[in-house]
Amino acid sequence: MDESLDTVLVSYDEETGVGTLTMNRPDALNALSAQLRADIVAGLRLLEEQNEGADGVALRAVVLEGAGEKAFCAGADIGGFSSDSAGGSSDRTHYDVIRDFPTPVIAKIDGYCLGGGLETALACDFRLATEDSTFGFPEVNLGILPGAGGVQYVTKLAGPAVAKELAMFGDHISAERAADEGIVDRVFDSDEFDDEVEEFVSGLTGQAPLAVQAIKKSAQMAVQSGLNEGLRYDRQLFVELLNTEDHAEGAAAFAEDRDPEFEGK
Ligand code: CAA
Repeated sequence: MDESLDTVLVSYDEETGVGTLTMNRPDALNALSAQLRADIVAGLRLLEEQNEGADGVALRAVVLEGAGEKAFCAGADIGGFSSDSAGGSSDRTHYDVIRDFPTPVIAKIDGYCLGGGLETALACDFRLATEDSTFGFPEVNLGILPGAGGVQYVTKLAGPAVAKELAMFGDHISAERAADEGIVDRVFDSDEFDDEVEEFVSGLTGQAPLAVQAIKKSAQMAVQSGLNEGLRYDRQLFVELLNTEDHAEGAAAFAEDRDPEFEGK
């Protein structure tokens, strides 16, 4: 499936189960206009439709990337700024939709990843970047703060001092430093980036999809809640997974010393 929305290209590879969303405003460094925010949500919905009528889970991973050579996303569109810019006028922002999307979303970052662009990457499950990418919260230079929880999320990943440094100074940091601080998960040479991302993603798509989805929910619960609530939630997810065909297949494959074939059932 290949579909061109106004500001997002959507594609889906039936063979691998990988969907790709390309933010497509390269002349504005993929800055988040209201249209782009809406198209990210629409693109995710189109990809989710691939599961309809499938035997199990068809969509196994989503890659979110930026078009052009310079940026993943340079943040909110400064031309069209308003109080909606923390995510749009709807109650559920594109950040919420990515975070709650059942399938893992991988941010593939090559270039600037700033402001709302960094918050978009933080909403994703993994952040993979080229060595030349840079990260930052420049909002302070506009007299505002990252409006979509950027300070909250970086505090969880890297601690409050790093979050405050990024948001108070507004400077860009390198991919290497972002990785050292736990903000980015992997940094790759630019030449090898596409292959490395493909390998990372294919490592994910072969895993039992329902277990992967439950793990995403568990991590989300851990970030949003206290430990006791999180432990209770995990126990409930665990019992649900024990009753799946994928669990039976995994156990049978182990006993028979073969690779399992997971369908997401
Ligand atoms: N919104 C709108 N347009 C943007 C943009 C943005 N955030 N960032 C870059 N652009 C546009 C530029 O205006 C320029 O357009 P023209 O060619 O029409 O002049 C084009 O993209 C290329 O940008 P530059 O010429 O500036 O490229 P550069 O390589 O010299 O600099 C940059 C790159 C350092 C990223 C610089 O563009 C910059 O500082 N951009 C602003 C980044 C920013 O402040 N982001 C945070 C926005 S606030 C936010 O994100 C908070 C929130 O969600 C609520």
